[in-house]
Amino acid sequence: MAAHVSVCRGLVVVLALVAWLSCAAAEGGGGDRAVRQRLEVRRHLKRLNKKPVKSIRSPDGDIIDCVHVSHQPAFDHPFLKNHSIQMRPTYHPEGLFDENKLASQEKKTPSTAQLWHQNGRCPEDTIPIRRTTRDDVLRASSVKRYGRKKHRSIPCPLSVDPDLLNESGHQHAIAYVEGDRYYGAKATINVWRPKIQQPNEFSLSQLWILGGSFGEDLNSIEAGWQVSPDLYGDNNTRLFTYWTSDAYQATGCYNLLCSGFIQVNNEVAMGASISPISDYDGSQYDVSILVWKDPKEGNWWMQFGNDYVLGYWPSFLFSYLSDSASMIEWGGEVVNSDADGEHTSTEMGSGRFPEEGFSKASYFRNIQVVDGSNNLRAPTGVGAFTEQSNCYDVQNGNNGEWGQYFYYGGPGRNSNCP
Ligand SMILES: *[C@@H]1O[C@H](CO)[C@@H](O)[C@H](O)[C@H]1NC(C)=O
Ligand SMILES: *[C@@H]1O[C@H](CO)[C@@H](O)[C@H](O)[C@H]1NC(C)=O
Ligand SMILES: *[C@@H]1O[C@H](CO)[C@@H](O)[C@H](O)[C@H]1NC(C)=O
Repeated sequence: MAAHVSVCRGLVVVLALVAWLSCAAAEGGGGDRAVRQRLEVRRHLKRLNKKPVKSIRSPDGDIIDCVHVSHQPAFDHPFLKNHSIQMRPTYHPEGLFDENKLASQEKKTPSTAQLWHQNGRCPEDTIPIRRTTRDDVLRASSVKRYGRKKHRSIPCPLSVDPDLLNESGHQHAIAYVEGDRYYGAKATINVWRPKIQQPNEFSLSQLWILGGSFGEDLNSIEAGWQVSPDLYGDNNTRLFTYWTSDAYQATGCYNLLCSGFIQVNNEVAMGASISPISDYDGSQYDVSILVWKDPKEGNWWMQFGNDYVLGYWPSFLFSYLSDSASMIEWGGEVVNSDADGEHTSTEMGSGRFPEEGFSKASYFRNIQVVDGSNNLRAPTGVGAFTEQSNCYDVQNGNNGEWGQYFYYGGPGRNSNCP
């Protein structure tokens, strides 16, 4: 890990030098730096925003473009030029817990959907894509960094390197399993709108499917909800995915912001706002997310709720994950930018500590893994990890109805987390 840190630092120096050189070059060209940036942004937007069949304006200000399924960003990938889309997985994991059935027997909790549905739906053979605006790109540190994580931010409980963890400024409160071969993971995640102190910070709640070691070639598939003012320009809670096959360096991105993920579903837009959101001591809402590897084709599929099979990450995008995952993590992550020399007050989960329990603290329930026989089962030997439990904490539990679950989160800055 120490070697990795110095590689990272080396990289940062090189990148800074390149950035400086290109700025210097641009200055040399006179006042056309702004013009060049405008052109670059326009080109990038043209690449990202495919020609829609129909567009829907969401109440939160987003525009959702319904793009023909064969014109989606995935097909800009050279390896996908001749790809024939798989419209459905060949296999679902066995033992999929049917929450609809359970819910109709008990008191049905209203299901969580997406805000833009209030103003329309996408036709068949199209997929909904959140349109990227000029402002979205301009909020990123550079056009190239738009839609990507800034640096590695994987919680690594196994190889905890305090320096590295604290250096990156990312803080986690997670449950995890390791030491086996995993072919997927599932969780039902409580949905909240945590407060974000600085626009360049974020708060997310997700699952991670990890392959390889925590080195340069880490493979990761991630899905959950996030509040990220920099990425979306507001404080809404949004559904997101992320993938990388080289520890967040050159490959991967959020949602459909690069080519890779192939979407087949016309009802759920990645990056779109989730509605409704849970209230403190009031109504609770949750979403379930399942990611699994199709044992026949080898692609990693994602399902949102009980009804929406979103699409898949083709197996060739990955190295380790083209076989199986070696670790699964579930939980929260925030960025602590330490802006005024104090810990951030950005919240994780509901902004409350696990001790407060149901309808106050945020939860993950019925966490499951997919095993080598394509069966969903409760994980064994679940560990818990957090860098600073006085800021954000996690508490595992197990009972009949919720299976393996945990409460997690916290307020960030407080008298015990200065
Ligand atoms: C796609 O198919 C065409 C025609 O069959 C072939 O010439 C081309 O090499 C293929 N491209 C890739 C990337 O496989
Ligand atoms: C990170 O830094 C904080 C504050 O300096 C310290 O309390 C904490 O123990 C560190 N975390 C780890 C994992 O070393
Ligand atoms: C997001 O929330 C912060 C405070 O938590 C507020 O200062 C900011 O104006 C909000 N941003 C938007 C775009 O609403």
